Amino acid sequence: MPPIWAPSIIGAQTPKTARVRDYWLGGSHNSAADRRLAEQFTLCAPQLPYLVRTHRDFLRRAVTRLVHDGVRQFVDLGSGIPAAGNVHEVAQRLAPECRVVYTDIDPVVVTESRELLAGDTRTAYLHADVRRPEHILDSPDLHGLLDLDEPVALLAIDVLHHVPDSAGPAELLTTYADALGPACQVALSHTCPDEQLLDAIALYSDIYHQPLPECAFRSAAEVGDLLVAFEVSEPGLVPIPLWLPDPDTEPDQNPEYFSGCAAVARRR
Ligand SMILES: C[S@@+](CC[C@H](N)C(=O)[O-])C[C@H]1O[C@@H](n2cnc3c(N)ncnc32)[C@H](O)[C@@H]1O
Repeated sequence: MPPIWAPSIIGAQTPKTARVRDYWLGGSHNSAADRRLAEQFTLCAPQLPYLVRTHRDFLRRAVTRLVHDGVRQFVDLGSGIPAAGNVHEVAQRLAPECRVVYTDIDPVVVTESRELLAGDTRTAYLHADVRRPEHILDSPDLHGLLDLDEPVALLAIDVLHHVPDSAGPAELLTTYADALGPACQVALSHTCPDEQLLDAIALYSDIYHQPLPECAFRSAAEVGDLLVAFEVSEPGLVPIPLWLPDPDTEPDQNPEYFSGCAAVARRR
């Protein structure tokens, strides 16, 4: 049950994958219908909540590293619902002056997120398609919040599988980085097409007769190709849990789990 002060959930009877994700991340911005869909997903793919948490843990470690590097401004592509440990929480805990422009294509996600962020003058939430960079880069909200003469980090966390090769994901990343200034860094995590994941998607479609949207999961080599215009920083493009794991914790490398890879990179 969400707390009494929680923002409303639009169309609570119609589940939203963004709220399923929030549920798996331990957030309270989800409805009974979202939790039912979460159960259906985990019936077919018990590893899915783990994968979601792996991406979110990378976001936390990458944002922490970027703030320590002096970055105070972030543009987050395909943000989902900014509850449960999102960019502004991580960044502003370390440096309260950090500013974050969130973006998402889903209008319900955008409306609910704006409600969640109401009153936070250091965040903005744009309704935009990552494949239309001009809608984000030319936005008055972005220019009102960010100073592009200062370093900006672009975040693409578990979103580029929504961008097929035909939309030119490598060129898109380059376009964003070029517009966001010479000190722009990119933090990217991407789900890989492992067999278990593809089997689980097929199983879900068979059981529930609901084909999931086409996703361009990419191998680590294909993700590397998205970063051709970038210099990948240490420790390189690596399995997500191995990207600068927290000191004193054993990175989880259970091969039973779905795989993904992650990197932070600078424009060459
Ligand atoms: C898998 S979720 C990842 C959310 C978030 N980045 C995170 O790591 O928790 C993908 C998000 O991308 C959004 N999305 C899908 N296609 C998009 C597009 N073309 N442009 C912008 N956002 C998109 C979805 O609505 C969803 O919220």
